[in-house]
Parts: sequence; structure tokens; C-alpha cells
Amino acid sequence: MDRYEKIIESIDDPIVVVSFTGDILYMNQAGYILKSQLGQRDFQNLITHPLNLEFIKKGMSVKGIFKEVKNNRFLIDAFPFEKSGITLLIRDITRFIELEEMAKKEGLIVTISKLLSAIFHDMKGPVGGIKGAAQLLKEDIQDKELVDDILYETKRLENLINEITMVAKPIQLSRKVINIHMVIDEAIKTLEKQFPEVDVERYYDPSLPDLYIDPEYMHRVLVNIIRNGMEAIKGRGKIRISTGISWDTVYSPKGNKIFIRIKDSGEGVPEDMIDKLFIPFVSTKKKGMGIGLSSSYKIVKEHGGILRYIGDATFEILLPIPERGDK
Ligand SMILES: Nc1ncnc2c1ncn2[C@@H]1O[C@H](COP(=O)(O)OP(=O)(O)O)[C@@H](O)[C@H]1O
Ligand SMILES: [Mg+2]
Repeated sequence: MDRYEKIIESIDDPIVVVSFTGDILYMNQAGYILKSQLGQRDFQNLITHPLNLEFIKKGMSVKGIFKEVKNNRFLIDAFPFEKSGITLLIRDITRFIELEEMAKKEGLIVTISKLLSAIFHDMKGPVGGIKGAAQLLKEDIQDKELVDDILYETKRLENLINEITMVAKPIQLSRKVINIHMVIDEAIKTLEKQFPEVDVERYYDPSLPDLYIDPEYMHRVLVNIIRNGMEAIKGRGKIRISTGISWDTVYSPKGNKIFIRIKDSGEGVPEDMIDKLFIPFVSTKKKGMGIGLSSSYKIVKEHGGILRYIGDATFEILLPIPERGDK
């Protein structure tokens, strides 16, 4: 055995030289082992597979040819050998793919169970509220306020369900001409009770034109972003909401969009989160679902607008000003 042959024999992966007519010209030890494992027919099938490729016969080398035989998966690199053959480097990737598939499944299961437990955690509050109100109602059927409590908690559940289903569902806008400040005020109202320690400052530009938007969807966006701000504050603090005409040189150079900026007195988005903000199910909160920003992004985009983080604990929404004929 000469030195080169020794080198080739020492390689663990099968190396086979095959002629264009399918005859084996040379094979290393690992090749023989594979042949005996697969049996003559399957082995022949494997090594002649690359010959079906036109490039190979034209003398080009082709890497990463995938071939499955008898539940085994192989990756073959083929290099031209002299005038009428090819050298095949065969790698058995069966185990590798199995491992990868397992890891993928396990990763998915972890993600799903995290998600479910976050969802159930969020449902517990409203369900507990409804149960409590119903028990009290049993004692005093006249108490109308308890019915309001039940309706309020049911609405919270409904919102939660809407938000979850939105990740998968396409958005169907039902647009109206409306003043954006009314929508913002409404969003603040739904959160104020939950965050009594946070003051909301409004710097509205009263001259803004009405927009042509879906008020319910935009309500969700604003609630998501303002709530994130309130959660980021962790206690006492301020949210500042300002509006105006945007002259952003990229997104609104003609002043044809309005901006809504929501700034909180928290620490801002950590550097390593900035790229991931709008990816679904990414959350740094213990019980967070990480769908607020991703669904908000989808909704704003559907409106022809932009949602982005501009630094300094500030999120900005740009929305197009309707042109004549839009409504
Ligand atoms: N105002 C903010 N200040 C700091 N970080 C924020 C802010 N808003 C969002 N984030 C970050 O973005 C992540 C994703 O937000 P979101 O999609 O609303 O999901 P969730 O609120 O369930 O975590 C949050 O977990 C947080 O890390
Ligand atoms: Mg959120």
C-alpha cells in the first residue's frame, strides 16, 4: 500500500470511484463496510445516483447530493475522476438528521408549553373574577354591579383570545374616518386602572387631520405599546404620548404621515433585544407571551404605516394621512 492509499484507507467515510457505466473502480475500507451494511442492490443504487446528474458527465464536481436508501440518508460529494469516472465522498447523515429533528421537536414542545402556561396564567385572573362575581351574585341577585364585573372580565378574556388568534390569522381591516386622539384616549382608559402609579402625559397636536383606520385594531396596537411602557416602568413613573406630522426623511419626506410617539420612564429596550422586538413569542418577561409587538407590527403595516423603536424608551407609530379619495 502506498502512502496515498494509506491516507484514503484511513478515512472513516466511504470513498468510492465509479465509472460512468456504474462499475466500481476503487473503494476504501469504509466503502466496503457500507456496502455490506446496505447490501449489493442498495449500495449500487446509492453510488450510481450521482450519475443521473448532467453536470457530472460534463466533468463538473457537485457537492451535497442527497440520497435516501433504506431509511438511511446520505450526503454525497462527487468529483470528476479521469475522463470516464467520478470519485464519491459519502457521508451518512442519518443520525445527524435524527438528532436535529429531535431537537427541533423538543424545542417546539418547550415553546408551546411555555406559551400555553403564559396563556393560562393570563386567563386565571379574569376567570377568577368571573367566578367571584358569580358567587356574590348568587347571594344578592339584585346587584347589577356584579354583572358589570362579569362583563368586564369576559371582555378581558375575549381580548386575550383575539390577541392569540391574531398571530396566525390574516388581518381584515374595517376602516373608518376617525380622530386618532380619540383612539389613544380610549387605549389609555383601558390601562389606567391597572397601572394607577403611572401618569400619562399627552402632547397632542390638535391640528392633525382625521385618519382612515380600523379603530379596534389600532386600539389593540396602542394598548399593547402603552402597556409595555407601563410594565417597563415597574412602579411609579410616566408615559408621554405625543403626536404630530412626521417629516421623517425616509418614511414621510412629504409630511404625509402622522406620528404617535410613546415614551416611558423605564430603562428602554436592552441592546440585545432591539433586533428581536417584533419576533413572535420573544419576551423577556416571566409571564410574557411576546405577541404584543409582533401583532402590533402586522396591524400597523396593514394600515400602510410603520412601527419601530427609535431609542430612548420610545416607540413610534407612523400612519398615512388619507389622500382625497381614500375614504
Ligand atoms: N417600553 C419597553 N421598554 C423596554 N422593553 C420593552 C418595551 N416594550 C417592549 N419591550 C421588550 O420587548 C419584549 C416583547 O414585547 P411584547 O411583544 O409586547 O411581549 P411581552 O410584553 O409579552 O413580553 C418585551 O418582553 C420586552 O423585553
Ligand atoms: Mg407586551
